[in-house]
Amino acid sequence: MKTGFHALILAAGKGTRFKSDTIKVLHSLMGKSMLRIVLDSVSRLNPDKIHVVVGYQKEKVIQEFDTENTDFVEQKTQLGTAHAVLAAKKILQKIPDQNLLVMNGDLPLIRPETLRPLLKQHIRQGNDLTFMTAVMENPTGFGRVVFLDDRIRIIEEKDATPSQRKLREGNVGIYIFGIRELLRALPKISTQNKKGEYYLTDIIEIMSSSGNKVAACRTQNVKEIVGVNDRYEMARAIEVLRHRKIKALTERGVTFYDPSSTWIDFDVKIGSDTIIYPSVFIEGQSVIGKHCILYPGVHVINSRVGNSVKLLTSTVIEDSRVAQNCQLGPFSRLRPGCVIKPGAKTGNFVEMKNTVFGSRSKAMHLSYVGDAIVGEKVNIGAGTITCNYDGLKKSRTEIDEGAFIGSGTQLIAPVKVGKGAYVGAGSTITKNVSPDALALTRVKQEEKKGWASRRKRRK
Ligand code: UD1
Ligand code: MG
Repeated sequence: MKTGFHALILAAGKGTRFKSDTIKVLHSLMGKSMLRIVLDSVSRLNPDKIHVVVGYQKEKVIQEFDTENTDFVEQKTQLGTAHAVLAAKKILQKIPDQNLLVMNGDLPLIRPETLRPLLKQHIRQGNDLTFMTAVMENPTGFGRVVFLDDRIRIIEEKDATPSQRKLREGNVGIYIFGIRELLRALPKISTQNKKGEYYLTDIIEIMSSSGNKVAACRTQNVKEIVGVNDRYEMARAIEVLRHRKIKALTERGVTFYDPSSTWIDFDVKIGSDTIIYPSVFIEGQSVIGKHCILYPGVHVINSRVGNSVKLLTSTVIEDSRVAQNCQLGPFSRLRPGCVIKPGAKTGNFVEMKNTVFGSRSKAMHLSYVGDAIVGEKVNIGAGTITCNYDGLKKSRTEIDEGAFIGSGTQLIAPVKVGKGAYVGAGSTITKNVSPDALALTRVKQEEKKGWASRRKRRK
């Protein structure tokens, strides 16, 4: 009995109904392309190898998926799903005794748990072909499954009569074949249909009427079978994935106050006892620790946030790392390359970029800190600006441990403020400040007595 299997994912079609410049399967759902989601699900079943049929924008697809257990076959012109399978003929001829799982590349909701019964049934019954079906309330867009006395047929919606359209059992687009039998039947498929394409679905009738053992595997997981053909179907698929992700996180101890307004990408990890307020977005490969609180409007992109961190309202963090016990915001912005050390705080309208910000240091109001290395327990006063760009190049600012930068200071980089030094408010620092020193660049204040009333009299 054949037990191993290869997988073939059909991903060569443009996806005309998507009306996009980019091939359909590269569109992203919660930070992961449709094809990546399908490949990840199929990989979890441990196939001997995954082959992907590429065609439209093949360079783009190959570039994104050039991973170990996957290879690519090219379908030069997209003449239909059966034609796509035929593109893999050379590979398949080498493994005639194996099984082949064929799956449309536009089924991002299918979980490995839903694929497994198909494989099991195929092997248990010793079938030549087992294909997945589902009974749906509204099977619009799906090929309908017709069980006849001596064979099974799939009729594509475009080719169906009004009474066939009323059938509620649809073809999901996932099949498992014995490869020898598949190769024998494939050349018999013609283009005698409304679209003039080679439909893979025709193989059901061909095989079931020529002595092959063909069976349907009816899945109960109807929510997963959305074939994403247009943007509306993609929006619906995203909705399902979004809730699936949030549910999984709640099971791990994360609190969501309003899942419907919260966006958490596929690969995001969040620790237990973290609380997520409404309208929080966490994207990419972000990791949030335990016992954190993310207040409304927080947006984290590809960043790591340690345990017990508070991110106050409307704080944005991108490609950065925030260590444990920090507090950021409201309205703080970390641009790429920031490392915020334990217990540090940033406040309203503080922007940082490519900066190491030391443990327990603070910048609480209206500051820009860019290309800087800030030591421990540094205090950055309101309105401090590191002037890191001279119009040609970026330069570094160093502020050593325990330094105090008075409000309204400009630090003209490259420049260094030594350990424990003070910079008086309103200074423009152009030269290094020695440790323990006070630097002041203010013009001395002068006073003209009675000046104001003299001015008024002049009028
Ligand atoms: C297909 C099925 C339909 C089923 C539905 C489930 C056929 C003829 N119809 O219809 O019975 O109910 O899926 O979602 O198979 N592709 C290629 N090369 C091609 C054409 C398509 O690789 O020449 C790929 C596409 O990139 C896509 C997949 O095959 O990933 C399915 O094609 P699509 O056009 O979406 O088929 P449906 O109309 O959805
Ligand atoms: Mg489709």
